[in-house]
Amino acid sequence: MAKRLPKIDSFGFQPGRRLAGKYVFESLLGGGWEGEVYKVVEIKTGIPRAAKIFFPQRNARDRAVKFYATKLDRLRDCAITIQYHNSETIRYKNMNLTCLISELVEGELLADFIRKQPGRRLQAFEALHLLHAIASGLECIHNFGEYHGDIHTDNILVRRRGVHYVVKLVDFFHWGAAGPSKIREDVIQLVGVLYEAIGGANWYAKQVPEIKAICCGLKRGLIARRFPSAGRLREYLESFEWATG
Ligand SMILES: Nc1ncnc2c1ncn2[C@@H]1O[C@H](COP(=O)(O)OP(=O)(O)O)[C@@H](O)[C@H]1O
Ligand SMILES: [Mg+2]
Repeated sequence: MAKRLPKIDSFGFQPGRRLAGKYVFESLLGGGWEGEVYKVVEIKTGIPRAAKIFFPQRNARDRAVKFYATKLDRLRDCAITIQYHNSETIRYKNMNLTCLISELVEGELLADFIRKQPGRRLQAFEALHLLHAIASGLECIHNFGEYHGDIHTDNILVRRRGVHYVVKLVDFFHWGAAGPSKIREDVIQLVGVLYEAIGGANWYAKQVPEIKAICCGLKRGLIARRFPSAGRLREYLESFEWATG
């Protein structure tokens, strides 16, 4: 019988604590289903990094770390992917836990960014601008034959720079081998992000036709037929004609 792994849903590492003798904890950046992510500083250089520490029950035999690190490494040339650095081990309650050290992303969670907007939603044109930034980044991932697997507003970090959105994706999820169905699922989830950004169900009926043409009433089959990959969605966003004034 497989050994039962202890269930942990928060580590609570405090600022000042050391990690593997090389980093020092600064603050908690966020947490989710798989683990917690902290801002840490490399002691020798003073360079800040992000350290994701996996809950043991989500990372049996380091499988989750390996999938995440391998995927980040394969996709290191995609601007939307965070840069993987290395892995470390931290001692916690008599256990050895694996930490994944990556670039620290400047910016905020898309969920928080949307919440801060007037009326807690984006106007159509701005939402499409943001969608274009994410679709272009995701296109690179799809061109590598890879997929993200868990696209939602808590896994997208965003920052405005000039008139552009700089977007990073964190938290790739492994659902098995890549293929067209995984790529289609990414696009369906991305369209769900647009839907959420414009205010969700409460505001959908009032949206301009240009938004509805992309959201397709969240009908999965329709979205998949119209936009079978992020690249197709990006091309569409660069060329559709506006009917509304
Ligand atoms: N490299 C990073 N730089 C800055 N913040 C990050 C980074 N990676 C993750 N985060 C923050 O930590 C949160 C949890 O990380 P994530 O990888 O999504 O963990 P989980 O798998 O538990 O959801 C994210 O929602 C984000 O706010
Ligand atoms: Mg997450």
